Amino acid sequence: MTVRNTINPNRRAVLAGAASSVMLPSFALGASHSPVELRPSLFQSQLLPDAYPQTQMWGYGGTAPGPEIRVAQGARIERRLVNDLPQPTSIHWHGIRIDNKMDGVPGLTQAATAPGEMFDYAFEVPDAGTYWYHAHNQSTEQVARGLFGALIVEEANAPEVDQDVVLILDDWLMLETGEIDPDFAAAHDRSHAGRLGNFVTTNGTFALEMPVRHHYRLRLRLINAANARIFPLTLQGLEGWIVALDGMPLSQPERLTSEIILGPGQRVDLIVDVKSAGGETAYLVRLNEDTPQPQVIFPVSDGSAANQRPVPAALAPNPSMDLPDLARATRTQLVMEEGAMGGLSAAIVDGNRESFRQIAQKNMFWAFNGVVGMTDTPLIDAALGEQIALSISNHTVFPHAMHLHGIHFREIMEGEALGPMRDTLLLGGRETREIAFIADNPGDWLFHCHMLSHADAGMMAWIRVRA
Ligand code: C2O
Ligand code: CU
Repeated sequence: MTVRNTINPNRRAVLAGAASSVMLPSFALGASHSPVELRPSLFQSQLLPDAYPQTQMWGYGGTAPGPEIRVAQGARIERRLVNDLPQPTSIHWHGIRIDNKMDGVPGLTQAATAPGEMFDYAFEVPDAGTYWYHAHNQSTEQVARGLFGALIVEEANAPEVDQDVVLILDDWLMLETGEIDPDFAAAHDRSHAGRLGNFVTTNGTFALEMPVRHHYRLRLRLINAANARIFPLTLQGLEGWIVALDGMPLSQPERLTSEIILGPGQRVDLIVDVKSAGGETAYLVRLNEDTPQPQVIFPVSDGSAANQRPVPAALAPNPSMDLPDLARATRTQLVMEEGAMGGLSAAIVDGNRESFRQIAQKNMFWAFNGVVGMTDTPLIDAALGEQIALSISNHTVFPHAMHLHGIHFREIMEGEALGPMRDTLLLGGRETREIAFIADNPGDWLFHCHMLSHADAGMMAWIRVRA
């Protein structure tokens, strides 16, 4: 891959100065050491098939997805963001129950890092599992251009598998010229299903091929990094179990019998056995289109004549996975409304009540509890340890993927049973669902739709957990 630095020469001089101080031998800095850099920059790559021109992309370290970060549970991650982009940026560590000031949300937990500047992220990762990191400033553009990567936290006793495979699913909105469509504020995307792409990849590659062997046991870590696409998926020639959702282990592996639906921001960990024989091909299949499409192709070669494998044991639970106590929960609600197609006539925007025609003229389309976009008032103001139950009513016709930063929640099923811990809830159009959580991580936490054009167009709120 050719990596071309397109940053202007002046800014480069500043960066070169900064970089050289980082290059000092560590003894010169006393006891401290230089953190590893995570440097978002512009680069050229053959994203589309060879018949098309190359694409200018944005990526961490000049690749998209960016470098995989893989650490042991409980480890400390230190990364120095050095911004080689022409825009301010920040990094959010999606799904990590993180120290609030490291959460990477401009305007809430930090200021965005200007071009040529840097920001040191340093935090512990309490939970094992499959997480990801991505830009969180002008995210609709920055994530769509390639600023994301996998963050894998390994269990001390990881299940035995032959291959541990990270699969980052994405779609890109491409022009024939090889450009990423630069209209990141298209009103139609913002008011309808979000910025859906027209070129689907896994780990940045169309129809990714991953050779495996007959009888292999694989751990597949699926991450949906798309701006808006929901991936309905199924397996062919592979059989197995779901062992974790959004990083958090299920109490029991769940046999895969139906399709997997992965909304933007969501992850699923699968343990699967290769059933296809040597010479055959197994698939991860995408069911969005009229005919199923291969998302990942697994050419199978002969393996050892392994016997039937046992059902995998559950992954060890992460710390603080206590069930919220619904009897003691503070009950609150979120109503999601839309002006474009939902007939909502007015809402509060920037502190003023406006008609939806006026709001639409600002390219804003969605309201949470009658308010468009961020306000000074948190949706929930919780004491540390408070039990919270939140009913979310989607009065719009579109699905939405609601992501809570810093805290995992559980869905309340039929008023009482509690589902697995998640950080992103995919709601169908006109659906009401209920979640509950223990407000055990202090700080100001963003709560927004992970269809990034929707977040930009009003679907943004936050929750305060007082220390
Ligand atoms: Cu993965 Cu606020 O986002
Ligand atoms: Cu949405």
